[in-house]
Amino acid sequence: MLDLLITHARLPDGRGNMSVAVQDALIAEITEGFEAPAHETVDAQGMLLSSPFVDPHFHMDAALSYGLPRVNQSGTLLEGISLWGELKPLLAQEALVERALAYCDWAVAKGLLAIRTHVDICDPRLLAVDALLQVKQQVAPYIELQLVAFPQDGALRGPQGPQQHMDNLVRALDKGVDVIGGIPHFERTYEQGSLSVKLLCELAAERGLLVDMHCDESDDPHSRHVETLAFETQRLGLQGRVTGSHLTSMHSMDNYYVSKLIALMAEAQLHVVANPLINITLQGRHDSYPKRRGMTRVPELLGAGINVAFGHDCVMDPWYSLGSGDMLEVAHMGLHVGQMTSQAAMRQCFEAVTVNAARVMGLQGYGLEVGCKADFVLLQARDPVEAIRLRANRLKVFKAGKLIAESPPATSTLALPNRPSHTSWMR
Ligand code: FE2
Repeated sequence: MLDLLITHARLPDGRGNMSVAVQDALIAEITEGFEAPAHETVDAQGMLLSSPFVDPHFHMDAALSYGLPRVNQSGTLLEGISLWGELKPLLAQEALVERALAYCDWAVAKGLLAIRTHVDICDPRLLAVDALLQVKQQVAPYIELQLVAFPQDGALRGPQGPQQHMDNLVRALDKGVDVIGGIPHFERTYEQGSLSVKLLCELAAERGLLVDMHCDESDDPHSRHVETLAFETQRLGLQGRVTGSHLTSMHSMDNYYVSKLIALMAEAQLHVVANPLINITLQGRHDSYPKRRGMTRVPELLGAGINVAFGHDCVMDPWYSLGSGDMLEVAHMGLHVGQMTSQAAMRQCFEAVTVNAARVMGLQGYGLEVGCKADFVLLQARDPVEAIRLRANRLKVFKAGKLIAESPPATSTLALPNRPSHTSWMR
C-alpha cells in the first residue's frame, strides 16, 4: 500500500488531473488519473501542486531584527549598513537562534523548504556562524539550510589587515559552512576587488566548494567584477559551481559591453540570483529622475541560457522592514521590475523561485519526477501565473511525504445589497 496519494492535481507544466504517489518518502508514480490504495489520500481538487519554494539568497543572521537597536528611519542602504554595525556587537547567540527558528517556522508555512543563507564572518567570535550551524541541524528534518561564509565588510578589508577576514572565513568553513562568499565591489580598490575574487575562487577550487558572491551590487556601470568571476570560474574549472548574486550594475552598463559579458557568463556556466524586493528599493538612490530600477538583466540572461533565480535577501532587518518569507511575493516583484509579462516569462518567474533556485543550491532529488523527494506545496491556485497573481494561499505543505503545514482555504463571505449572500475566493 502507498504511503500517500495526491489526486486531481495540476502541475506547474500544465498537466491536469494528475495523481502523485509516494512511497518511502520518494515519488513513486506520477500519472494522469492514477488510483491505488494508500494510507492517506489527498484530493487536490484541481489546485496546483508544486515542488516546494527555494530561496537561493537570504541573510538569516539579520532576519527579524527589525527595530534592534532602532528602526532604519530613512530606509536607505547606508543607514542599514550603519545600523547593522550598531547591532552586531549586541548580537547574542540564543537570540539569533530564536529569531532564525521563528523565520524557519514562517518559511514552512509558506512552503519554503530550502534556503541558502549568507552568514557574516567578519566578527572574530563567529557567533552568527555557530548560531546558524545550530539552526541548520535543528531544522534539517524539514528545511535544507545551506550556509555561505560572507565577508560582509570586505574579504580583504579587515581592520587588522587583509588576512583577518580571510582567516575568519577559513575558520567558518572548517566549522562546516558550505559555500564561499565574497563582496568584491565593497573592497577598498578595484584591484583589491579583483584579487578577492581570485583568492576566494582559488580557495573554492582547493576545497571543492561552491561559490556565491555578492557581486556588483551597485549602480556604477564600471563595477565589472562579474567579468573576473566568470574568468576565474573558467580558469579554475569551476563551471556550474559559481553564483553571482545581485549583479545590479549590469542594469546600468553599456549594451555593447553587456553583449560580450553575457556570453562570457554563459561560457562559465555562472548561476545568477536577482533579489528584486531589495534592489528595487535600494538601487537608484543617487538618481534624481529618471530613476533606474537597478535589477540585473533577467530576461536577457535567461535568453542566453543562464540559470537565473530570485532570492528574498532580507526580511525585517536593517535593510528592509518588510517581507514574510513568501517567495511568490518575490516572484511577483521580479516579474514587475523585469517587465516579464509574456505568458512564458511569467512562468519563468515561478521557476525562478522553484526549479532554478534549486539548481543554484545544487539540491539533490528536487523536482516532480519519479524518484525525487516527496516534498510538495499545494497552492490555492490553478496554475503558476495565478499563484503569482494571488500570492496564493498554501493549502498544504509536505516534507518526505508527511504533512508539515496546512492553512484553511482563503475565502471571504460577502453580504451585499442586491446580491445573494455568498462565499468567494479571489480569482
Ligand atoms: Fe544579499
